[in-house]
Amino acid sequence: MPATSGSSRPPRSSLSRRQVLAAGGTGLLAATATPAKAATTRRLARGAVADGTPEQVHLTWSEDPATSVVVSWASPGPANRPQVRIGQRVIAAEAEPYTDGISGEAVWTYHARVGGLRPGALYAYAVTADNDDDAADPFTATFRTAPRGRAPFRFTSFGDLGTPNTEWVLSYGQSAYAVEAVESFQPLFHLLNGDLCYANLNPTAQPAVWRDFGDNNQASYRPWMPCPGNHEVEFGNGPQGFTSYLTRYTLPDNAVPGFGGRWYALRIGSVLVVSLDADDVVYQDAGPFVPGPEALTPAASTGHPPIEPGTSLYIRGYSGGAQTAWLERTLAAGRGDESVDWIVVQMHQCAASSSARGNGSDLGIRQEWLPLFDRYEVDLVLAGHDHDYERSFPLRGADPDVGRDLATGAVVDTLRPRPVTTEDTGVFDTSTGTVHLVLGCGGAVDNLNDYGPRGEGGQHQAKVLTRENRPEATSTQGVYDRPPAYAAEDAVWSAKRDTSTGYGIAVFDVDPGTEEGGQTSITVSYYHALGADPVNPATGAPGAPTPDYTEFETFTLVRPRSG
Ligand SMILES: [Fe+2]
Repeated sequence: MPATSGSSRPPRSSLSRRQVLAAGGTGLLAATATPAKAATTRRLARGAVADGTPEQVHLTWSEDPATSVVVSWASPGPANRPQVRIGQRVIAAEAEPYTDGISGEAVWTYHARVGGLRPGALYAYAVTADNDDDAADPFTATFRTAPRGRAPFRFTSFGDLGTPNTEWVLSYGQSAYAVEAVESFQPLFHLLNGDLCYANLNPTAQPAVWRDFGDNNQASYRPWMPCPGNHEVEFGNGPQGFTSYLTRYTLPDNAVPGFGGRWYALRIGSVLVVSLDADDVVYQDAGPFVPGPEALTPAASTGHPPIEPGTSLYIRGYSGGAQTAWLERTLAAGRGDESVDWIVVQMHQCAASSSARGNGSDLGIRQEWLPLFDRYEVDLVLAGHDHDYERSFPLRGADPDVGRDLATGAVVDTLRPRPVTTEDTGVFDTSTGTVHLVLGCGGAVDNLNDYGPRGEGGQHQAKVLTRENRPEATSTQGVYDRPPAYAAEDAVWSAKRDTSTGYGIAVFDVDPGTEEGGQTSITVSYYHALGADPVNPATGAPGAPTPDYTEFETFTLVRPRSG
C-alpha cells in the first residue's frame, strides 16, 4: 500500500486553541477524535522580532513512555514564562540556551517534562510563552502515550534526513516528503538513526541549518527518538561537538555521569529500544573536517581561534569504554527480564553495509558490540550512514581472516558476520541471529545505493574500515586528505539491497502474541520513493523529490516470547 499517492499529500493542519480547550480539563481527547496528521511549525514569514514565539516543536520520551512525554522547542529570542498547556494544566518549561561556537549566534531552546498521563491515550497540547507573537492562537498538536504491557504498536525508522532547503550541503526536497511519510503511517514513534541535518557540513551557519531541520520536522505529533551520527559532531560545540544536538533533545537518562543524551534505553510494551552513539567505537574519521587550503575562522565574539586545515574532530573512544560497559549491563538486564521480548538497537554507522560509494562497514562496531549482540540475542539493528536500503540475513558469530586490504592486498581479519541461514524465506527467527538494516534513506541528497562489485567467486563485495583514517598532508600545500583504510570481503551476510532508489522508510508492526510461551512477531515493510533520486541509479535519468512511497519488500521477524 503506498503511503501517499499522486499529489494527495497529507494535510497540514493543527488544532485551534478552542479545540484544545474543548478537550477538557485533562487534555484527553476522545478515542474517536481524528488526530491531525501533520503540524505546520513553519514560521518563516515571521518578522525579524526575536521574541518567544515557539518554533521547531518536537516530542521525545525521557521517562516512562506510557505516562509522560517531553515537549521541546526553540524560539527566535528568549521566551518569557515558556510553557505547555494540557487541559487546565500549565507545565513550565526549562530554558537551555547556548551560543554556537562558530557563528556566535545565540540559540534559545525549551523543554517541558509532562508527567501523570494515562497509558495509550490521546492528548492535545498547546505551546506558548508570555511573549509569543501567536499567543491568541498558539501552536497546538496532539500526541498519544505508549500502551502498558504487551500490546501491539507500530514504529518507523530512517536516518540521514537533512532539510528541504537546498542552500545547505546535502539538503534536498525529499526530506519534506520523508517527514510526511512518517505522518502518513501514524506510528507511535519514529527512530531517527543519526545524521539529522548535516549542520557540521555548513559550519558557519549551524543554527540556521538546525532551524530549517526543526521547522521541517513535524515531530510534534509523535516522539522522534534520535541517535547521534557523525554529522552531529560540530566544531566549537562541546568536547564531542554535540551541544547543538543535546540542547534540542531531552532523552532518557543513561545514569553515566558526563555522557547524558549520547546513548540511552527505552521500554515500549515488550520492546527494549537501545540507542547508541557509534561515533565512540568506529574507526572512520567522518566528523567535521577542514580540508584547506583556508582555515575555518569562528566569529570574533566566540573567542575561538581559527581551525587550521587538516583538523578533524575525531572522537573514537571518547567514553573510555563507559558506553560499552553500559550496553552490556543494559542488554543483560533486558534479556533477563521476562516482560521484554524484543531488543532493537539503533545506531548511525554500519556493521553490515556493502555500499560501494558510501562508507561501508566499520570493524570498530564488529569488535566492540557485535559479540554483545550475539550474547544477548539482539533481534534487530537499525543503522543509517549509507544513504540506501540493505538487509542482512540473521547473523551470529564471525568468520576470521577473510578480508583483503584494498591498498596492500594483505589478509585482514574483518570479523565478517556469519549468516545463520542464506535462504531468504521472508520469515526469520531472530533468537538465532541478529538482522541488520541500513536505513540511511531519509532525505539527504547524496543517494549511495550502488553496491560493491562481484568478486572472483561471484559474491558481492563489501568494504570494511579496518583502521583509523585521520587526515594527512597531500602534495598540495595546505590541503589534507584521509589515507586508505579499507579491506574488501565477500558480503555473504547481505540478503537484500534496493538498487532502484536511495530513499524510503521502514515500518515495524509489533504483534506481542496471545499467550505465555507462544510466539511474538514484528512485521517489517520497507517503502521506497521511486524516482526521487536526483539521478536514477539504474537508468541515469534525472529525478525529483516525490511524495509517492511504494512497497519494496515485507518480511517477518519471529521469536519465542520471554514470558
Ligand atoms: Fe553518517
